[in-house]
Amino acid sequence: MSYARALRCRKCGQEYPLQPRSKCDFCLSPLEVTYDYQAMAGVVSRQKIESGLKSMWRYRDLLPTEEAEVDVGTGFTPLIKADNLGRELGLDRLYIKNDCLNPTYSFKDRPVSVAATKAREFGFDTLACASTGNLAASVAAHAAKAGMKAYVFVPSNVEQGKLVGIAIYNPVLVQVEGSYDDVNRLCSVVAQKYNWGFINVNLRPYYAEGSKTLGFEVAEQLGWRAPDCVIAPTASGLMFTRIWKGLDELAMLGLIEPINTHMFLAQAAGSAPIANAFAAGTLHVHPVKPDTIATSIAIGNPADGYYALQVARQSDGGACTVTDEETIAAMKLLAQTEGIFAEAVGGVVIGALKKMTAAGMLKKDDLTVAFITGAGPRTQEIVSDVVQPLTIKANMESLEEALGVIA
Ligand SMILES: Cc1ncc(COP(=O)(O)O)c(C=O)c1O
Ligand SMILES: [Zn+2]
Repeated sequence: MSYARALRCRKCGQEYPLQPRSKCDFCLSPLEVTYDYQAMAGVVSRQKIESGLKSMWRYRDLLPTEEAEVDVGTGFTPLIKADNLGRELGLDRLYIKNDCLNPTYSFKDRPVSVAATKAREFGFDTLACASTGNLAASVAAHAAKAGMKAYVFVPSNVEQGKLVGIAIYNPVLVQVEGSYDDVNRLCSVVAQKYNWGFINVNLRPYYAEGSKTLGFEVAEQLGWRAPDCVIAPTASGLMFTRIWKGLDELAMLGLIEPINTHMFLAQAAGSAPIANAFAAGTLHVHPVKPDTIATSIAIGNPADGYYALQVARQSDGGACTVTDEETIAAMKLLAQTEGIFAEAVGGVVIGALKKMTAAGMLKKDDLTVAFITGAGPRTQEIVSDVVQPLTIKANMESLEEALGVIA
């Protein structure tokens, strides 16, 4: 049983039944799932959630699925108090949501688990997606778990480590000559011809909902309160909007106090259409041609850019860009202060955190949560310069000689 009621157009409000569709027929704007919050209010409680599964599915009542979930063990990832990094940056109450620790090593398992469950409910036997890399791995893993077929499309610049992390689940892996935006364009045509459950095309409204669990978990892990500040990466902009929606829903249901969270988004300087629009003071996002090492978030024409901007604006938050150099330095800083090896996207987040703190946009005693959404080992090429072992013979003399060099 689900409290989901309909799909509703984010722009004109037109409603549609809960079907596989992502856009409004009238204004072509994205659709989102709406719920019967009144019915939910009497049922969903802190206690009920706390006694649930130790996974994202403890929030089942707030998700749009009816049947048994397709779950590879996602969610309830650690929220750690980042004292070392906080000291370095000048933040006393910094937390890191470590979502590298999902089964396929990124937060994408959250939205995909919901979308795959809906796909099975709708009777699809095949999952598909357009991906910068992480989504494809997650879709392939969930298809394997559900006994479904998978067709995953990625651009030509996907790193070898990511390709292995996709192919191991044995999907049909299609590498398209071109950028993510080319892949995405192709997939919207493919989705019209083939009757597939396209995770981020015809199942996109359901896919989006999974990322609310990031907001739910953080609030619960903080002892049922919203952070003062959130900093999260954006590519299409979708996850950012859903962290906000998750917090907002908890407040609406009375599970936390009304929220006053400032939402800050981080982008790579070489792929920053949303942050550029924020800086220009407009809600109109101009597409760019991405050029960054943070390939997972290299989207030049972000589908939900407008809505991400709205969230940053309305919450009195902000936007920040980070160069590749700053990204690499921040990846090392995160690893060397908190023991977390994130992919380049994590470097973008920590780099932005550093810059915004230095600029006084984040305050020392703000309860700040930084979202680290993907793991480092798959894109390790970009920090391979850290490998500088002491090469010694297998004896004490040789060791001490080498240690003397570094002493
Ligand atoms: C690791 C990682 N973080 C963040 C994002 C951003 O997600 P969204 O497209 O919802 O903005 C992505 C997207 O691919 C990603 O791979
Ligand atoms: Zn509409």
